[in-house]
Amino acid sequence: MSDFYRVPEGEEKRNLYQEAEVRIAGLLCGEPDPVARMAGVVAVLHGAMPHFFWTGFYRVSGGSLVIGPYQGTPGCGRIAWGKGVCGTAWVRGETQVLRDVHDFPGHIACDARSASEIVVPVFDRAGAVVAVFDVDGLEVGAFDAEDRVGLERILNMVFSR
Ligand code: SME
Repeated sequence: MSDFYRVPEGEEKRNLYQEAEVRIAGLLCGEPDPVARMAGVVAVLHGAMPHFFWTGFYRVSGGSLVIGPYQGTPGCGRIAWGKGVCGTAWVRGETQVLRDVHDFPGHIACDARSASEIVVPVFDRAGAVVAVFDVDGLEVGAFDAEDRVGLERILNMVFSR
């Protein structure tokens, strides 16, 4: 496990999300290109959050999820409708928080070191899911309600405004 990897708790995690949200709002301002917007979100969050081991977008494209901007070890390129944690978040339109990825039977392991995961659906203005945002952690229980709230607030800025 990386020396830099650690799971922040409570108020520290909340503050990290608030700071990241301000930085991301600044990056998105005046930038209409969707790839540039996604890349900025990934770069800020992956750098700011010490418990993010893999951070990235999968875009809805041609009936599948296709990998988009990400940081971390090489991710799986495509995920079919309803498959894995990402496909489940896409189909249900609901954030999935996995305390332990091994408890989710259909989990797709792109890197065997991933132990926990959060996947947030990303909506367009019409309310359709256009992408999912996926984060993997190295420890069981890295993600909680603080991550869900912080990430949903940030991702709500990417395609739906
Ligand atoms: N674990 C995901 C696949 C993507 S990787 O975590 C980068 C899933 O089960 O959908």
